[in-house]
Amino acid sequence: MFKVDEIGPDVYRLSAYVSRIDLQFNHFLIKDDEPLLCHAGLNRFFPELWEAVARVTEPSGLRWVAFSHFESDECGALNHWLEIAPGARPVCGMLGAQVSVNDFAIREARGLMDGEVLATGKRRYRFCSTPHVPHGWDAGMLFEESSRTLFCSDLCHHMGDVEPLTSQDVVGRSVKAMEAMQAGPLAGYLPYTSRTQSIMDKLAALAPHTLAVMHGSSFTGDGAKALQELAGAYKTIFG
Ligand SMILES: [Fe+2]
Ligand SMILES: [Fe+2]
Repeated sequence: MFKVDEIGPDVYRLSAYVSRIDLQFNHFLIKDDEPLLCHAGLNRFFPELWEAVARVTEPSGLRWVAFSHFESDECGALNHWLEIAPGARPVCGMLGAQVSVNDFAIREARGLMDGEVLATGKRRYRFCSTPHVPHGWDAGMLFEESSRTLFCSDLCHHMGDVEPLTSQDVVGRSVKAMEAMQAGPLAGYLPYTSRTQSIMDKLAALAPHTLAVMHGSSFTGDGAKALQELAGAYKTIFG
């Protein structure tokens, strides 16, 4: 069920496609002295995601399980990972750790403040607090500085069983998906607040080379331009 692709040196994308809703659920595994899994995944994915992780590294050696916001596709299986990897801890924003994760998880989270860095060996993950972007009071994103990869959660969400990595227009695909959502019962997926534009500006200023996308293809290229275009589209659709 899971496809595993190396989208950058030691950065693996573990992808499940759910045909019923025409949507991929992507998880990212980054090998390093302290391996990090970004997105614990849905509870029901755990056995197959475990098997996919095992194709790349020993699952019990995971040290960090990261996610953007408290939602099942981000962290539903968190406790399964903490059970099979005794040295692993959750890592998320400080707010999320305090209001949800430290009550839910069997091991205390490393809660990061905006701008704080998690070092795992060669990799340095800078935490960017992004309240309500894509959604959730507790939302945040990790920017890995050595590879300039932004783990951007639901930003750039688009449909289909698409390629692992593209330099083509993911923003156009995402705008199409957001317009369809906004016209139906899923309106409200991305709340547009007085801070949305400044948060998108902050993410664009990181100048990522890769956007690691949870739902759809990851993007390689001018990440700042893509995020600015996405911000403009959000203003039109949701603003
Ligand atoms: Fe989400
Ligand atoms: Fe998601």
